[in-house]
Amino acid sequence: MTENMRIGVLTGGGDCPGLNAVLRAVVRTAINDYGMSVIGFKDGYEGLVLNNYISMDKNSVSGILALGGTILGTSNQANPFKFAILQKDKYVYLDRSTELVTNYERLGLDALIAIGGDGTMAAAAGLCKLGINVIGVPKTIDNDLYGTDQTFGYDSALVTATEAVDKLHTTAQSHHRVMIVEVMGRYAGWLALGAGVAGGGDIILIPEIPYDIGVVCDQVKERNRQGKNFSIVVIGEGAKLEGGDMVVNRIIETSPDAIRLGGISHQLAAQIEGLTRLETRVTILGHLVRGGSPTPFDRILATRFGSEAVHLAARKQYGELVVLRGTEIRSLPIVEVAGKCRKVPLSSPLIRVALSMGISFGVTRDRFRELAGEGVTADAGKESF
Ligand code: F6P
Repeated sequence: MTENMRIGVLTGGGDCPGLNAVLRAVVRTAINDYGMSVIGFKDGYEGLVLNNYISMDKNSVSGILALGGTILGTSNQANPFKFAILQKDKYVYLDRSTELVTNYERLGLDALIAIGGDGTMAAAAGLCKLGINVIGVPKTIDNDLYGTDQTFGYDSALVTATEAVDKLHTTAQSHHRVMIVEVMGRYAGWLALGAGVAGGGDIILIPEIPYDIGVVCDQVKERNRQGKNFSIVVIGEGAKLEGGDMVVNRIIETSPDAIRLGGISHQLAAQIEGLTRLETRVTILGHLVRGGSPTPFDRILATRFGSEAVHLAARKQYGELVVLRGTEIRSLPIVEVAGKCRKVPLSSPLIRVALSMGISFGVTRDRFRELAGEGVTADAGKESF
């Protein structure tokens, strides 16, 4: 009796290309395949707490497949269990999950599709325990959600970041400079790694491999000795010097993960210039990679995810996160993924192929093997890796 089913949908966390494609898939699948009705909550969980929603029919999702952002709005700060309210210039935090449950019940919802990243899934895990029939859809440009081979949004961000690396190549070459491109990604280096490999970077620095500035500079100087008098460094915002700390750009008190990273590339540029005397410039891509139209890959993945989320609801398979495993769409319990971050494993084929391309990760071969748990070989020496 799916005709009587009513599902809610929301987009939570930082936006990314493909969110609208999921919404369109959810609404179309719900109506076309099952005759369900759908309502969309505004600005992530905030809409469910404050009862701010719109009803979604096929018209409401018409023409949005290629549109960046989210027509529902989003928030990476609205946590129903720790909801921030400004009182006399100070934030106080309230658990408003009971109001959320009341709204969910009053609206006669059978399921809630929560599209988001780790913060959204952490809250979703809590809501499952309160009896809400949540189904998760994994989103983020960071590609760091546990349990899925890829999140939607990553491919589109990768295209933007790669385009930037391509464009910086010509100016680096013309001016014989070291160009540093900093990309988002938080504690995982997927975006830097992908853009570095796809854009033909010379050095890739990611949070998973704390770098040695001496090795970075040796690589730059070596390229100059070989007559390649420019270098491209792609660095993830969460990268850090060996023995150093990540660079925190700001603290957002009201956000579940309060830390906002950014700015490591300025530190790196000063060090490279100081040690090599080579002119160095910094480009921080920031939120640019979150904008624009989703790539065909993301449109397809988002559509498959959105559709599958509704199929799960129709089968009453609640508490599940839709995931991509190889080329298959599967699902696994949200509680299994919540609170976990999928970092780049040092055994990743992408790292291996980058090494074969002569890309340096800013560490010696010995250090890389040590970090990868592969043991150190006697003849490995100080070769850059
Ligand atoms: O999780 C997505 C992301 O863009 C991260 O890569 C970045 O660290 C963070 O969100 C930025 O958050 P905000 O939009 O709050 O500045």
